[in-house]
Amino acid sequence: MGCSILRKKFNESLFDIYNSEELNIIFYRVMQNLTNKSKLELMTSNYKLGNVKEKIFYEYVNRLSNYEPIQYILGNTIFNNLEFDLDNSVLIPRPETEELVDLIIKHECKKEKILDIGSGSGCIAIALAKYILRSNVTALEICPNAVKIINKNASKNNVEIDIICEDLFTFQSKSTFDLIVSNPPYIVYSQKYKISKNVLNFEPHHALFVNDNDPLIFYKAILNFSKNNLNVDGNIFFEINDIFHHEMIQLVSKYRNFSYKLIKDFHGKKRFMILKKNT
Ligand SMILES: C[S@@+](CC[C@H](N)C(=O)[O-])C[C@H]1O[C@@H](n2cnc3c(N)ncnc32)[C@H](O)[C@@H]1O
Repeated sequence: MGCSILRKKFNESLFDIYNSEELNIIFYRVMQNLTNKSKLELMTSNYKLGNVKEKIFYEYVNRLSNYEPIQYILGNTIFNNLEFDLDNSVLIPRPETEELVDLIIKHECKKEKILDIGSGSGCIAIALAKYILRSNVTALEICPNAVKIINKNASKNNVEIDIICEDLFTFQSKSTFDLIVSNPPYIVYSQKYKISKNVLNFEPHHALFVNDNDPLIFYKAILNFSKNNLNVDGNIFFEINDIFHHEMIQLVSKYRNFSYKLIKDFHGKKRFMILKKNT
């Protein structure tokens, strides 16, 4: 069956889940995965899939219609122009987190020793190791399956990073860092009703959610760790839940040697906090 008929069937099956722009992106990701052809070739040639690949195409459509994210179906995604393997033990890296990585890359500060806490697929740690020359990056992650993925992604992208499989809440280290970055779980369970099915039914809840009774628990642990393990003049870069930005300011104000700045994401939400340790 030719590309244009497949496109029609694809849209008919999925129009109530995805808007037309999303359908366009996902369709060509599926087709490129099945054919290894460029988007341009597919758009101009009415390329035909053989029987075997057509069967896989319809399996993908079926999984998409059950709200499964395309990134888990294909087992990979692009983050900061790098390819990352994924499975459902790790969060799908978000565009906001790409912004966080860009902020770090552009920020003028010392970046020799970097620690990424709650590394997931390794997207932040690996992108920083790739783009910041002479950096020495460590990734900390509690989930052993995620650690396997981080390892895979580091070799896939030709970078060497240190990977530690430990719980942040008991983690101790003799090392000190110039920069600590974290995108920890920050959605409170009471926000669960707002989360769409494709996230809720497929992404790991331990990567997404935090208890309502202590929503800043990860940030507190990282700030405490930073007392001894972040160098003077060092920076912390946090991705945060915008609904808690006032609470974040209150928390950080208790740590008198830190100055801070809040930065909005491309949606205009207060999403990032940059802290500097002054003494
Ligand atoms: C929001 S995800 C972020 C993943 C990745 N850094 C990203 O930006 O896509 C949070 C990550 O923190 C990890 N995590 C949760 N609790 C942790 C803990 N106590 N210690 C270390 N990592 C933890 C989760 O397994 C998950 O991979």
